[in-house]
Amino acid sequence: MRRVVQFSTGNVGQHSLRAVIGRPDLELVGVHAASPNKIGRDAAELCGWREPTGIVATDDIDALIALQPDCVVYTAVGETRPTEALEQMTKFLAAGINVVATSMVWLVTPRQVDDWLRVPLEQACEQGNASLYVNGIDPGYSGDTQVHSALSLVTRADSITVQEIFDYANYDDYEFTGTSMGFGTTPEDKTPMLFLPGVLTTMWGGPVRNLADQLGVELDVLRQRIEPWYTEQRIECKMATVEPGGLAAVRFAVEGVRDGVPVITMEHITRLTAASAPDWEFPPDGKPGVHRVVVEGEPRVEVNTHVSHPTLDVTEAGCVSTAARVVNVIDWVCRAPKGMLAVEDIPSAEAIRGLMWKA
Ligand SMILES: NC(=O)c1ccc[n+]([C@@H]2O[C@H](COP(=O)([O-])OP(=O)(O)OC[C@H]3O[C@@H](n4cnc5c(N)ncnc54)[C@H](OP(=O)(O)O)[C@@H]3O)[C@@H](O)[C@H]2O)c1
Repeated sequence: MRRVVQFSTGNVGQHSLRAVIGRPDLELVGVHAASPNKIGRDAAELCGWREPTGIVATDDIDALIALQPDCVVYTAVGETRPTEALEQMTKFLAAGINVVATSMVWLVTPRQVDDWLRVPLEQACEQGNASLYVNGIDPGYSGDTQVHSALSLVTRADSITVQEIFDYANYDDYEFTGTSMGFGTTPEDKTPMLFLPGVLTTMWGGPVRNLADQLGVELDVLRQRIEPWYTEQRIECKMATVEPGGLAAVRFAVEGVRDGVPVITMEHITRLTAASAPDWEFPPDGKPGVHRVVVEGEPRVEVNTHVSHPTLDVTEAGCVSTAARVVNVIDWVCRAPKGMLAVEDIPSAEAIRGLMWKA
């Protein structure tokens, strides 16, 4: 039985919390909440679990450390508050507490991470004899596990294209995803974060370089492309209301180039409702979203991954899967040697142990 603290109960955190409460091999011992209206409330209430857990949310990190959990599931938004998130993660690690996380997406490929982030985390792991593992669905699964599965079916690969084609209309995250992608902005507005030079390569360059390293391929250059789409009609959805002239879809990619040709591409086509960017590619079979890999090679392989749920929107189903990527390996991470772990370190069978628990 692993003693677990859930850190935050947002889009992803509420689903990891439900899994931690539900799984018989995990014991929820603490919950962090930053929002004042969540502090003091039972964990069950914060994630829609059927009966109270007796564990109430706190913003006191020292009190959570004093519980001496085996692992913290860290799902607080990280990219907009990197210094604070880094401090919080290192504090747990240095105290000997393992951390699995979906935040700070740069850490999905820890061997590609810049020193400002890698060095303090490595030092904290060393100090506390603890491990850190970060993953998600994209970045994460789509560019690692999914690609490895596809590549296992070819005798030669010429190029790899990873795509996320998603309708973010019902994704309730304007604060980070919406503003960084620039939904609702016009060309006259301040440049959205994602469009700034180098931002895309910072976010998705790691997975491209990591795959190149694993394939033994030397890339000449890593480059990015980005294309906005502005709507002529008003678009209303949960993510944002976009007035005519505002950005309602964006297509962007990071490309690893060899001999002038992109050989590893990570591309996103992100729209708000099906009315946006009607000429751009849609997911197959009328689905609202797809995580896809296409390997051109001997033979050609295409893997389309669709997550869905009987009651949740597809982006929320993606958040459940993001939670799964880290909750499912808590036990392994707790047993792993200290340090920063990557998905390739984890034997695939270890990630499915215990998954058939009865809800
Ligand atoms: N790789 C992937 O596929 C993938 C997919 C989805 C998300 N992610 C990443 O996972 C993380 C969580 O995403 P999300 O959509 O769940 O985010 P979110 O719902 O926008 O925010 C998560 C939580 O962050 C907490 N938070 C905000 N400010 C805080 C502060 N100052 N101190 C401590 N906690 C604070 C809030 O906690 P309270 O609720 O307690 O106030 C909030 O619920 C992000 O870093 C995101 O990039 C990755």
